[in-house]
Amino acid sequence: MLVFHQISVLQEHLKQLRNQSLSVGFVPTMGALHQGHISLINQAKAQSDIVVCSIFVNPTQFNNAHDLAVYPRTLEADSQMLDTAGCDILFAPSAEEMYPQLPTMKFDFGTLETVMEGAFRPGHFNGVGIVVSKLFHIVQPNKAFFGQKDLQQCAVISCMVNELSFNLELIICPTQREEDGLAMSSRNRNLSPEQRAIAPAVYQALLQAKTGLLDGQEVSVVKHNLASYLASVEGIELEYFEISDFDTLLPFNGTLSQSLEGSKIALCIAAFLGKTRLIDNIII
Ligand code: PAJ
Repeated sequence: MLVFHQISVLQEHLKQLRNQSLSVGFVPTMGALHQGHISLINQAKAQSDIVVCSIFVNPTQFNNAHDLAVYPRTLEADSQMLDTAGCDILFAPSAEEMYPQLPTMKFDFGTLETVMEGAFRPGHFNGVGIVVSKLFHIVQPNKAFFGQKDLQQCAVISCMVNELSFNLELIICPTQREEDGLAMSSRNRNLSPEQRAIAPAVYQALLQAKTGLLDGQEVSVVKHNLASYLASVEGIELEYFEISDFDTLLPFNGTLSQSLEGSKIALCIAAFLGKTRLIDNIII
């Protein structure tokens, strides 16, 4: 695996590959890699000639200084995992390389950023939009791979790709989970053993809510039941639980039977375990 730290050197190399008509699959990450990330690398390998992974803990998408400070940084181990997975190129720029000066431009994703992650992490999606658009311009991939785990991020990137005519295809890959159902996340490393033991309750709560909806319960009842269940698990604090239209991510009301034929519903949750914030979702 080749490792690049500088944009211009990476671009020169990618230009040569493109001249040989090789297709490029791109997996942007913030490192602290786990099997969820590797599943994206595997997908990219299956669908592209060359796989590029980026590792950059992007300061502009953190609206909480503590979260940025404790975000795990494990470049050496990440590099080995990528090499073993058969990734061809790792791009790991410094903050100075990516941001010689802080961008002044702002993304506005409309209603997409007024709900859930957008509402609770002001400025987060602007930072995601800035860094992903920069990375897309640098790498110019044919396909880019993202995880459903960050459903709203997928929606925001899809909006950006469509509205700014990025010449690439987005591929959304399923959420990878630990055996007990906990969605894999770099932040799981920050959980104490006690917190790790109760963390699967977040996914259990989603499954219970799904059952309630499929049984015909009203959204308000499902929400109430989920909040009561998580309140009974000491150490977990619910931040939000939303039942949303899959396409718009705006709140869905009523019962499932009232949902339009064929349209999908997303159950999305964010919860704190101590200072660690976990998100998850399932689609019905
Ligand atoms: P990061 O959290 O490192 O995630 C990188 C990619 O891995 C994202 O597309 C995310 O959805 C996916 N991913 C994370 N956990 C997953 C899991 N359990 N199963 C499947 N895919 C999973 O998301 C970011 O970084 C950043 O916001 C980024 C897009 C790199 C911009 O900075």
